[in-house]
Amino acid sequence: MTTTPTSFESSPADTVPDLAAAPVGIFDSGLGGLSVLRAVRTVLPGESLLYVADSRHAPYGERDHAYIVERTLAMGDWIVSQGTKALVVACNTATAESIAALRERLPIPVVGVEPGIKPAAAQSKTRVAGVLATHVTLKSERFRQLVERHAADCRFICQPGHGLVEAIERCDIDSPALSRLLEGYIEPMLEAGADTLVLGCTHYPFLDTAIRRIVGDRLTLIDTSVAIARQLERILDTHGLRAVQGTAPAAPRLCSTSDGAHLRQLAQALLSLDLPVEQLQPVGAPGSERGVAGHAPKAA
Ligand code: DGL
Repeated sequence: MTTTPTSFESSPADTVPDLAAAPVGIFDSGLGGLSVLRAVRTVLPGESLLYVADSRHAPYGERDHAYIVERTLAMGDWIVSQGTKALVVACNTATAESIAALRERLPIPVVGVEPGIKPAAAQSKTRVAGVLATHVTLKSERFRQLVERHAADCRFICQPGHGLVEAIERCDIDSPALSRLLEGYIEPMLEAGADTLVLGCTHYPFLDTAIRRIVGDRLTLIDTSVAIARQLERILDTHGLRAVQGTAPAAPRLCSTSDGAHLRQLAQALLSLDLPVEQLQPVGAPGSERGVAGHAPKAA
């Protein structure tokens, strides 16, 4: 149990200079959060960023609740230990299972993500929309409440994206096998009359080109990464934590619990970021790889 510093409690707040210069942590089970990092860099170009991928343990989307909470808390603790001023949990699955535990534990503001059900309901004319997300996200209580609250008059064709996170983790975003997998998931949505597709996992925006090839302009794709960046902006402003305007931040710091090679490759290919990746060392009892501590610089 941790306490929240006073500086995070006032609203709106004056800028707190030392804290404002600190980095924002962005965390995902793997590489998908890069889609959020991309949006944050566009919306908040003055912010220093620390990106952490738990790729050694991805995907989370078919794990049990206890596993996801344990991993997320371990990663959250490490990210706080790096002097971050706020955390974006750039993972729908981790948000669905553990955002409350994270907020309880961490002494910094935590921004979560959720599938874009609300924008889908606002845009769909047929009132039928597809949702691609992980199995865990789709069966979560948060997802059920989201639909009930914002889209009770819509019909959602919910499809777990089995195999998609794994493909993106190995930097496959456009192979024939991946296209066949996507077709199998999306064709039934089109047949059901969907005009909108919610990308309910932060990995999936990187499949944009492959999905477009299948659906053309028959589906509006809902990607919430810019909305997440705007939410982060509001939270930083509320707590007086926005970086001083006009300061040029260092390049994002990229970290991974795996060897980092694919993180480096995808950041380069999709974000034009050619950066080394630091490898986090797993710790814990023999056989347990759930904790993280420290890091060793690695030119992946
Ligand atoms: N990017 C994560 C999400 O948004 C992927 C989850 C997973 O690791 O399965 O849900």
